[in-house]
Amino acid sequence: MSDASEWVPDRPTVPRLARAARDCHGCELWEDATQVVFSSGDPSASLVLVGEQPGDQEDRAGEPFVGPAGRVLDRALEAAGVPRAEVYLTNAVKHFRHRLRGKRRLHQKPDVRHLVACRPWLAAELDVVDPDVVVALGASAGRSVLGRTVRVGAERGRVLTDTGRPVVLTTHPSALLRLQDREGYAEAFDALVADLVTAAGARG
Ligand code: URA
Ligand code: SF4
Repeated sequence: MSDASEWVPDRPTVPRLARAARDCHGCELWEDATQVVFSSGDPSASLVLVGEQPGDQEDRAGEPFVGPAGRVLDRALEAAGVPRAEVYLTNAVKHFRHRLRGKRRLHQKPDVRHLVACRPWLAAELDVVDPDVVVALGASAGRSVLGRTVRVGAERGRVLTDTGRPVVLTTHPSALLRLQDREGYAEAFDALVADLVTAAGARG
């Protein structure tokens, strides 16, 4: 099975990785995307946050978490007392998977094969950034970071140590978007903030 590894440079830095990822054909998702969306934030951060994949706005901007989910994440980071500029933000999959409905591009969850194909980028980023703690936002990120199936409901908010590096699994901010202004939003938001506080507190 093909993956991204042949595009990953030998002596990586975050800028080198980001540049090399523009040419990646490790799976088919590059074909329908505007551009690769690599990462943002501090390449020497002690906290790395991993999302699922770029959304529509991220695909157009070339930056992760600049759309609606990013605004929820910004509010949660602020409430947790973690400045966004001090974290490194990336995604398990670097191209926007979607399907067309008329002119609208609708988000499609990546399959496991996309997570696996794109994983060499995330693995290289974690090697280079070498954070104290990784936050996996949602089940796709958890699958990629931990290399196994995860259940967010059962495993969230604990410091998981099965990979050697502490990982905190939590909900994806887009799950909160679906609750916006409805019953349960405040509770879900507070739980996300609490998990971010747990992750920040697990730094060395
Ligand atoms: N959702 C993600 O998982 N990542 C982004 O960059 C934007 C939305
Ligand atoms: Fe490469 Fe990942 Fe894009 Fe697939 S999604 S083409 S593996 S960067």
